[in-house]
Amino acid sequence: MSSLATATMGTLLCIVLLLCSTVIVYGQLTPSFYTRSCAQAVPIVKDAVRQAIAREKRMGGSLVRLHFHDCFVNGCDGSILLDDSTNITGEKKAIPNANSARGSEVIDHIKSQLEKVCSGVVSCADILTLAAHESVVQLGGPSWTVSLGRRDSRTAVISDANTNIPSPFLSLPNLISAFQAQGLSASDMVALSGAHTIGQAQCSLFRTRIYNETNISPAFAAFRKASCPSRSGNGDSNLSPLDVGTPNSFDNSYYKILRRQRSFTL
Ligand SMILES: *[C@@H]1O[C@H](CO)[C@@H](O)[C@H](O)[C@H]1NC(C)=O
Ligand SMILES: *[C@@H]1O[C@H](CO)[C@@H](O)[C@H](O)[C@H]1NC(C)=O
Repeated sequence: MSSLATATMGTLLCIVLLLCSTVIVYGQLTPSFYTRSCAQAVPIVKDAVRQAIAREKRMGGSLVRLHFHDCFVNGCDGSILLDDSTNITGEKKAIPNANSARGSEVIDHIKSQLEKVCSGVVSCADILTLAAHESVVQLGGPSWTVSLGRRDSRTAVISDANTNIPSPFLSLPNLISAFQAQGLSASDMVALSGAHTIGQAQCSLFRTRIYNETNISPAFAAFRKASCPSRSGNGDSNLSPLDVGTPNSFDNSYYKILRRQRSFTL
């Protein structure tokens, strides 16, 4: 190879490396992502979530779950928010979401507020992520630094929602595998399950646990049976909190009552 060719190759390599490193930098999420492009983004989301939870405390749990159900289907890309269209069958109709995924109207409302102040800048995926964080904070839980810069999906995959989102009927090994498929360990799973300290579950999802399982307090099972009839088709959507003691506080009492067999995992 001539020295000119070597030099040219060297220059090309530098350019390629430079491009790659630039791409990697832009691909990173960062808490300051909207500092210049839309400084109002984070305050507007916080304020709207605060208002939504003031109207209905349960919305905090609903927004956390919506974020979780978004992230388990090809990443946290807002795909759960897409409605059906001519070429998309949305994830809203998937089994884990139909009649249970709540809060997309809160995200839609925030998005329309943000479009007025910085049009086309803030992704719905980031709004949903910030909304989940603010829900935890509003209900007394810990705060953490939220990295931003997610891009919104232009499509949704209902079959992936049906496959990837862990069903409440999974065995422990299958639950661990479902989280592992998303790069999450068993410890991550236990930590994330702690979100059940807020929110409510429908009778049809925990009926088997209170009627047919032995690792549950009989007194607690009897208490839950009062609003969850044994026969399928009766009271299926009746709601019960998973944290019987402090259902609207993001604390660690869910873990404590679980150890006393006064709740169930879902
Ligand atoms: C769906 O159709 C719309 C309108 O024709 C188009 O803009 C969009 O890119 C399509 N999406 C996919 C995933 O094909
Ligand atoms: C409990 O188990 C019995 C026997 O397997 C089954 O017939 C019944 O449907 C179960 N009940 C519930 C509520 O899951």
